[in-house]
Amino acid sequence: MSIIDDDIISNCSDNETFQDVVDARLSRRGVLGGGLAAAVTASLGGVGSLLTAVPASAKHEKGPLLGFQGIPVSAADEVVVPAGYTAKVLIRWGDPVSDGPTFIPDASNSAYEQAWQWGMHNDGVVYFPIHGSSRGLLVQNHEYTDDVLLFPDGTAGWNQEKTDKSLNAHGVGIIEITKQGRRGRGSHWRVERPSCYARRITGMTPMRIGGPAAGDPRLMTSADPTGRVVLGTLNNCAMGYTPWGTYLACEENFNGYFRKFGAQTVLERRYGITAAGFGYLWHETDLRFRTDEEPNEPNRFGWVVEIDPFDPNSTPVKRTALGRLKHEGAWVQEARDGRVVVYTGDDEQFEYIYRYVSRLPWRKARKQGINPLNDGTLFVAKFNADGTGEWLPLTPSNPTLAGWSLNDILINTRGAADAAGATKMDRPEWIDTFPESLTAIATLTNNSARGVAGTNPRTLLPNDPPDAINPRARNTYGHIIRWFYANDFSEPTFGWDIFALGGDPADPAHGSTIVGDKFGSPDGIYVAPSGRLWIQTDVSGSTIDTGAYAGFGNNQMLCADPVTRETRRFLVGPNVCEITGVTVTPDEKTMFVGIQHPGEAPTGVNDPANPKRYSSWPDGPEGGRPRSSCVVITKDDGGNIGS
Ligand code: FEO
Ligand code: CA
Ligand code: CA
Repeated sequence: MSIIDDDIISNCSDNETFQDVVDARLSRRGVLGGGLAAAVTASLGGVGSLLTAVPASAKHEKGPLLGFQGIPVSAADEVVVPAGYTAKVLIRWGDPVSDGPTFIPDASNSAYEQAWQWGMHNDGVVYFPIHGSSRGLLVQNHEYTDDVLLFPDGTAGWNQEKTDKSLNAHGVGIIEITKQGRRGRGSHWRVERPSCYARRITGMTPMRIGGPAAGDPRLMTSADPTGRVVLGTLNNCAMGYTPWGTYLACEENFNGYFRKFGAQTVLERRYGITAAGFGYLWHETDLRFRTDEEPNEPNRFGWVVEIDPFDPNSTPVKRTALGRLKHEGAWVQEARDGRVVVYTGDDEQFEYIYRYVSRLPWRKARKQGINPLNDGTLFVAKFNADGTGEWLPLTPSNPTLAGWSLNDILINTRGAADAAGATKMDRPEWIDTFPESLTAIATLTNNSARGVAGTNPRTLLPNDPPDAINPRARNTYGHIIRWFYANDFSEPTFGWDIFALGGDPADPAHGSTIVGDKFGSPDGIYVAPSGRLWIQTDVSGSTIDTGAYAGFGNNQMLCADPVTRETRRFLVGPNVCEITGVTVTPDEKTMFVGIQHPGEAPTGVNDPANPKRYSSWPDGPEGGRPRSSCVVITKDDGGNIGS
């Protein structure tokens, strides 16, 4: 095993240090004050003393956290924001990341051209400052593709060129952006073209496998007998970033690209490698997606991938110490002694929440040439019914994992977590932290199988009943949970509570505990420097504004005050989109939001002859098809977003 990396950041121009902004974020004040402390104390029961260390903290700004006029639900094919705010498209699928090539509205750009264009279905986004809040790199992943909308004739006559274009529409995009004009309505953001930083990382970009599992025989393929080099990153969902200035792309539903027509192994079943996949046709032309013939290729996905956005020539590295699962993001929080604590959820029904803690403080590790993400311990969460919880170590020395090697654990992390006795959750999505109050917050998007008779197809065990942390059967609307520590994010135990049960609080049948505007299926969650809590929803296309979600309108983003829990609707997206990806500039005067998969077919597959059937956003009647986009939001008076 090697924990040494040559990941030195080399910049292509004279940028300010990213460190300033990271330091600000990692030390920013959470705003969980007495209100939360009191609520948490009530929920903790026997471990109320944990809370004595939770500081009451001040807000960064004088005005209220929720200073805007909330907006109603909307089913319009547009982005709606409150009065006094402006939302503009920054970049769309197919737009060039640098100085070409341009998008062709009938989607006839080639695979080669797609490799230089913004990918499809953008998701987790991070702003890396070059000059504070006016110039930076915007890094956003491209989670998946709608292969009907990707080509003029959809999936007809599938061939190698189509596989390559679909692969090139996945991955990560890096663009350089600058703020034009001084403030408010007169300012706007521009993508710099050309830019020496601009880059696309795709499903075919060579990357290294790093950390303990690098070189393991289970990661070796016919194309890579070393088990150390892999082509591409796939299904990147949410994201993370490190204090040393790198972006973390997180491989979620990687299984859907592979086909296994013969009998599944236990490992393949646990990760959902099936004959049907998710309908992608890559296996028709690309051997590595035919698992019967290339059985180890799926083992090379399901990792967290570290990317240095400031070095356009850097090789991304898959960090195996963080385990292999359907990673929904990787959020880094610094412990008091400088070790990094990384939270990551596994988004599938009855899967788990994980935590990684580096062995060394990150600055010390890097001075020794050790990447902090290569050398640490992985844990999985157990939530007890009494409001306490513990992190179960996923190590060979854990008696529940007797006989497992470290690489057994890292490659079959789900199986190890099963054996360790982790708590099965209602689809963990995003996680963020309130650093000063030692609190983490996470979304559990929904779980239609909770408490419902049936069998989990990946474990062959009966579906679990409701429990304390996942309290609703057939959890249609999802919920948001918190956990908190007495002294430090690295502690082995914690207290927990439920921030909100989703649904319509005006309808008693929903059992919602939301204080304010209704929402369901929370997915993105983000704590801004001010402490504003942003919540994004991902109601699936088949249920948007219908059935249990009738009256909820299109997917949306809300802002919550973490102390009062008041939740107010701030943005509603166009038709059949998901709102995912959110960040602000350090001054909190610009927000970037991802609008993903507008116009996705609500009940199955789109029609290449009618690509605008469900949405024509953002290009409108003149455009050829809906396009996932990153949107910039500013306040017209130049104020902070949410004020
Ligand atoms: Fe890609 Fe779990 O959302
Ligand atoms: Ca998500
Ligand atoms: Ca989701």
